[in-house]
Amino acid sequence: MIQIKDFKDYEGQNIQTQGWVTNRRSSKGLEFLILRDGSGFAQCIVNLEDVGEEIFAKASKLTQESSVKLTGKVVKDERQIGGYELHVSDLELIGTSVDYPVSNKEHGIEFLMDHRHLWLRSRRQWAILKIRNRLIFAINNFFQKEGFVQTDSPIFTPNAAEGSTTLFASNFYDEPAYLAQTGQLYGEAMAMAMGKIYTFGPTFRAEKSKTRRHLSEFWMIEPEMAFHDNDMNMDVIESFIKYITGDVLENCKTELEMLERDTTVFKKIATEKFPRLTYDEAVDIIKGKKKVNGKTSIEVLEADLNDIKLQIEANKKEISEKEKIIAGGVKKGKRNFLQNRIDTLKNEIRKLEIKAGNIPKWIDSAANFEYGNDFGGSDETVITRMFDVPVMVYNWPHQIKAFYMKRDAENPELAKGVDVLAPEGYGEIVGGGERETDLNLLLEKIEEHKLPMKEFEWYLDLRRYGSVPHAGFGLGLERTVAWICGTQHIRETIPFPRYYGRLRP
Ligand code: 4AD
Ligand code: MG
Repeated sequence: MIQIKDFKDYEGQNIQTQGWVTNRRSSKGLEFLILRDGSGFAQCIVNLEDVGEEIFAKASKLTQESSVKLTGKVVKDERQIGGYELHVSDLELIGTSVDYPVSNKEHGIEFLMDHRHLWLRSRRQWAILKIRNRLIFAINNFFQKEGFVQTDSPIFTPNAAEGSTTLFASNFYDEPAYLAQTGQLYGEAMAMAMGKIYTFGPTFRAEKSKTRRHLSEFWMIEPEMAFHDNDMNMDVIESFIKYITGDVLENCKTELEMLERDTTVFKKIATEKFPRLTYDEAVDIIKGKKKVNGKTSIEVLEADLNDIKLQIEANKKEISEKEKIIAGGVKKGKRNFLQNRIDTLKNEIRKLEIKAGNIPKWIDSAANFEYGNDFGGSDETVITRMFDVPVMVYNWPHQIKAFYMKRDAENPELAKGVDVLAPEGYGEIVGGGERETDLNLLLEKIEEHKLPMKEFEWYLDLRRYGSVPHAGFGLGLERTVAWICGTQHIRETIPFPRYYGRLRP
């Protein structure tokens, strides 16, 4: 049995293959099947003249998602998706599929989410999951080649680590327990045992709101490094992001093309240094007080708004011209062609209008940003708009960061944390920093955050016995997949997403 991805090795040969029919189109004496087998997609042609009436009749009855075994000859055709097609000589039905609910036409998002178990079979979802797979592989490769040891942290935990408002309560043999929000605290213990480690597991946050970047269950990669300060941490983050994006770009060309992803940004990432801004500098940029490449954020956003308005006008003009031509009377083929273009333009206008509506809100919230606050989605959008590559923001007000962050000796109001903001409005994909080593400051913070001291005794031991400077970070897998794939919403980046209002299927 030959997989579709290997058709290239069988040009001109007779082979057998099996898969599912995602689409069928008929024309005189021909049936065009699009077969998918998980490894790829291929057009398979059933010609009445070649196969005879019995087999042809079977092919003409194939419904979407019926499974089949096909025999045929592999023929090169560069216009086809995989570059090869199959000229079928025999066909065997494996499983029927009656009234498959997910058609190739547009469905609402709730319908698709309710049918996630089937929706996963569609091309776009296939491409996203393949990219997720490659990204996981690249992440492991990076840390393994850099000498990190993969270690696992527990999921049942007795306390919060990233704020008590997003805890999922559980029950551990009649003791209250919580699902882990992070593996970091355990990662720190493992780094003191193994030097450089990373955890890679599911993490849980109760986020009672639906946003395009929050899941309740997401996967996080958390490296932790003994004898590292935050500058060294930022060096690792930068080379890590360069490596994983480069790897996916290199190895997922077909998938990125299917998603129509503009990959310019990833080419820039390979060569350009990531800007490192202090929180103070980032705030000045948000508020339009500090220029980047000679312009303030407000000026850039106002120019964007102007461009969008011009683009909307241009689209409207083109639509009315095309509508006039149609009204004047044209042949069916030409009319369809024009109507398609009109639909595309209208779609674009809708997207542009949403953006145009958002920009004034961004400008407004940026101008009114208060020093000392954490960045919201729109603040991140404003900063990332000013750069082409990911931006690292470090030295944050300690009040808005987790209890374990190291205080800056030169300015005790600041903590040595770092967030990485992905470009094109994707925002935070990494949070990390250097860890507090001063036992007394840690005790203070644990009390200030009202955390149960007795649960942290083991953590404090790490400071009592051979404490060393150490740092690390957490990369959100799904946010990174969303950014690389260019998906609007994080819910498509994990096979079975869990978020506020979605527990099934
Ligand atoms: O910034 P966060 O909360 O940092 C930590 O958990 C640290 N303990 C990491 C460390 O230093 N070891 O989360 C890290 C990353 C975020 O930047 C984001 O990419 C992702 O995890 N993340 C989420 N992704 C999806 N849905 C959510 N609700 C997320 N919350 C955080
Ligand atoms: Mg964060």
